Amino acid sequence: MISKSMEKALNQQITLEAYASYLYLSMASWCHREGLEGCAKFMHRQSDEERQHMLRIFYYISQIDGYALAPEVKQPPHEFKSVGKLFEAVYAHEQKVTQSINELIAQSYKEKDHTTHNFLQWYVEEQREEEALMRTILDKIKLIGDSPQSLYFIDMEVEKINKQQESAEPATEG
Ligand code: FEO
Repeated sequence: MISKSMEKALNQQITLEAYASYLYLSMASWCHREGLEGCAKFMHRQSDEERQHMLRIFYYISQIDGYALAPEVKQPPHEFKSVGKLFEAVYAHEQKVTQSINELIAQSYKEKDHTTHNFLQWYVEEQREEEALMRTILDKIKLIGDSPQSLYFIDMEVEKINKQQESAEPATEG
């Protein structure tokens, strides 16, 4: 069983994760249009991951006898000033998600809802990893610069990260 306030807060988190998924999808499209194929692939992967984050909460709410709601998602921006600004926006959004997870944890603690408290620990680790990854990319962009001449090198660096992530994934059978 879950309290109504916890159910509401988790449903709000579903909306936040869904928005992240569509924001990153929009960013993937922008990167593709700008010829940044490595960045586009990266943002598509992030978008897919955010959908998984959303579904994880969705299933959890159902499992504990709450009512999970399909989210209403506002349309994300379609234009970004530069690839540097785009990754800054990703990092800002991830920080917002981390803050929201921390607030959910504080609420679960206050309500003595240990099941939800436990469930949320996975997100704590995930947010630590995602923020670190975005900082790595932003540091590289700072080093390389994001003038038109630097875009090729930024894209190559992000493609290197794609390859690392692909090799870290479990091999699919068949
Ligand atoms: Fe699910 Fe990257 O926040």
